[in-house]
Amino acid sequence: MSLRVRLIVLSTAWLIFILVLFNTLLYWLIVNITAKSEKELLFGKAQSILENRKIHDPGYWGASDLLEDFLVSDEMIRIIDMDGLIRQEVESNEILGVQQPHVTTRESYAIKRIEKTRYLYVQVPIFAGNEQIGVLEIARVLTKWSLYINVLTSALVLMTIGAVTISVIGSLFYTRFLLQPLRQLNNTMQLIQQSGTFRKLDREFTARTDELGKLGITFNEMISRLEELVQKQKRFVADASHELRTPLTIIESYANMLKRWGGGDPEIRKEAIEAILGESNRLKGLVGTLMQLAESEQEDWLQFAPVELMAVIRSAASAMELAFDRTIRVESEADSVPIAGDPEKLKQLLLILLDNAIKYSSKPVRIRVVPGDGTVRIQVIDQGIGLEENMLPFIFDRFFRTDRARTRQTGGFGLGLAIAKSIVERHGGTIRMASRSGRGTIVTVSLPS
Ligand SMILES: Nc1ncnc2c1ncn2[C@@H]1O[C@H](COP(=O)(O)OP(=O)(O)OP(=O)(O)O)[C@@H](O)[C@H]1O
Ligand SMILES: [Mg+2]
Repeated sequence: MSLRVRLIVLSTAWLIFILVLFNTLLYWLIVNITAKSEKELLFGKAQSILENRKIHDPGYWGASDLLEDFLVSDEMIRIIDMDGLIRQEVESNEILGVQQPHVTTRESYAIKRIEKTRYLYVQVPIFAGNEQIGVLEIARVLTKWSLYINVLTSALVLMTIGAVTISVIGSLFYTRFLLQPLRQLNNTMQLIQQSGTFRKLDREFTARTDELGKLGITFNEMISRLEELVQKQKRFVADASHELRTPLTIIESYANMLKRWGGGDPEIRKEAIEAILGESNRLKGLVGTLMQLAESEQEDWLQFAPVELMAVIRSAASAMELAFDRTIRVESEADSVPIAGDPEKLKQLLLILLDNAIKYSSKPVRIRVVPGDGTVRIQVIDQGIGLEENMLPFIFDRFFRTDRARTRQTGGFGLGLAIAKSIVERHGGTIRMASRSGRGTIVTVSLPS
């Protein structure tokens, strides 16, 4: 069953239930209120008949004048003994006598219905002293009242049918109107599936102020993100192929050179072999870094353990100092900063940042550690070439290198900061870079502690 049909069926069923409930209540109220005066009239009449003392003596029950004086048109009056036998009956409408006599010990009444006409019967006990000896029953045809109640019943039934019909027609319209955005959403999704290209919902949809409008905005945001991801993925594959092709081309051309005429010339042979070795190393490095990047996408990439951050920082700093023969100063407000993290990856993070600071500057590099409330800030500060502000948004993208970095022949791939960002984010932290062209760079990492 479609959502629309379900909505219509549910709302109609609910409406029918409400109408039936209220109409029944209304019917019952009107019947009781309007029948009350008729009932009181007959009970009053019974009381006046009972005022005659002869009624209270069964010996007089055969006397013909006992009830006749009280009889008016469309009425019946009878005396019933305790065995249910009719002892006297007068009637001006035959149909009233058809009902079986009814013996009660209390005043009672009943409305009987035969075909479209209703009849009111009241019973009042007859006493002789303290002992009940029979029942006085009076019945009357409720001609006008029947008509009135019949009109009321028809009106209520017609009103119910009318209200349900109008409601169904109305809901056919409003469900169409209400579900239109869902159809549009479905169409857009199908279009995306069929064409394989991303599409967004139009402004008319997202400008709605209701939940569907919000759904539309979320949908468009999701599509934008997917588009961005696919775009990034494509760029990554293109960049990776490009980076891989360059050393391969160099290796190929040197190999060709050797093959053609380099074999005999020791100068050319030496140059070619060195170039081939150099490029192979670069290729190996690139493939290794790419593998790391791929690994960083995996769930269990990090092995969390308690880490003494200062020890990790000092060990990374002295390793770089030794390798590059440069000065690295570590400044900390605390001697010991314990955090939870992967010690290997944290060291790699520092090596990446120090590598950049060393590559892109020539003065001493500083590492500042500022433990805070729930976080610890690590800053790697250099006074090197820096970069333009408009480059900062791309700095953590894979394969991004500024032109200045490329011309320096420092041999990077532009993958260091992408890996650094992965490491920081997997630790639940953030990484930011602030830089002034020609003045220096500060990379700030915040980690939860
Ligand atoms: N401390 C810095 N000073 C100036 N520029 C920087 C600094 N750190 C990063 N950059 C710029 O950001 C770019 C990206 O840095 P990233 O570390 O990702 O790549 P890379 O150092 O060029 O190569 P890789 O780290 O893969 O060997 C660099 O090419 C450089 O242009
Ligand atoms: Mg780097």
